[in-house]
Amino acid sequence: MSPFQLTRTLPEDATGAALRDDVLHGLTRTPKELPPKWFYDARGSELFEEITRLPEYYPTRAEREILIARAPAIAAATGARTLVELGSGSSEKTRHLLDALPQLHSYVPVDVSESALTGAAGALLEERPGLHIHALIADFTRGLVLPGTPGPRLVVFLGGTIGNLLPAERARFLGSVRTLLGPGDALLLGTDLVKSEEVLVRAYDDAAGVTAEFNRNVLRVLARELGAEVDPADFEHVARWDREREWIEMRLRARSALTVRIPELGLAVPFARGEEMRTEVSAKFRQEGVRKELAEAGLELSAWWTDTEGRFALSLATVIT
Ligand code: SAH
Ligand code: AVI
Repeated sequence: MSPFQLTRTLPEDATGAALRDDVLHGLTRTPKELPPKWFYDARGSELFEEITRLPEYYPTRAEREILIARAPAIAAATGARTLVELGSGSSEKTRHLLDALPQLHSYVPVDVSESALTGAAGALLEERPGLHIHALIADFTRGLVLPGTPGPRLVVFLGGTIGNLLPAERARFLGSVRTLLGPGDALLLGTDLVKSEEVLVRAYDDAAGVTAEFNRNVLRVLARELGAEVDPADFEHVARWDREREWIEMRLRARSALTVRIPELGLAVPFARGEEMRTEVSAKFRQEGVRKELAEAGLELSAWWTDTEGRFALSLATVIT
């Protein structure tokens, strides 16, 4: 087998069809909403990488700190020969795990962003010529079929991306991850933790306006992919902390009364002045909540590590037998 394979588990037009469905559903309901996975075209993936370097956006640095400190323990506990990464993006932090797993045979990055996957795999292939890289263009919420690479398998889901799923979606997602794991396999899960509103809101509304551009990028995706007649500058970025549900909510607020036309879908979507459309939730967690959600999916929390400032956590979980 060649050391690099790129497999599209989404048929060529599946992205377009799924986007049309989400837009038809999300823009005709009240309040309006769009799922966050549509941020990540090539530009959105780059903007996210820029976010990870912002002074206000602590999760990437906090998670890297934990990975550096705990990679040897993770390697010893799992002895993984296949590393599957969901929502792998640039695979930047993953390098700390790859370095700690000398027995690793295969790396399976999974992402909806083809540009992120090819960029990350290209760099890794040069650095680690012996590693088999089997990149999957796939939606991790839609029942993954993994390649038949050697076990034990370690599935990692970093960055706190699980927080971008709504609670019911999270339960379904964790249940499907459970089906990927057998005895001896493990899940490594990154979760951002509940903290002060000030720190949280700053992380999602940075001074340089990069997160605002990332948020508005979903409108550029609609314009390019569906011919939507929309000017991103007509929308303001909003980031708010929902104290009850313990999540940050990103929204786009119409600066004036306007209509977004999408002729291809036969849609004319009216926005009142100041009307807000939800584009992302980013849930923040506590240890007991993570333990409970894992247990409900048939997984047992076996280790919980945080960064020294207690901002972010990595959980290691195994199958309940
Ligand atoms: N894990 C990286 C990247 C996080 S950004 C990190 O920690 O820095 C979130 C990533 O998940 C993006 O690369 C995005 O394209 C991907 N993603 C979002 N929703 C997805 C979905 N439903 N299926 C697969 N990938 C998804
Ligand atoms: C990918 N995900 C975990 C990021 C987050 O923090 O929820 C996406 C993001 N949205 C705004 N900034 C970063």
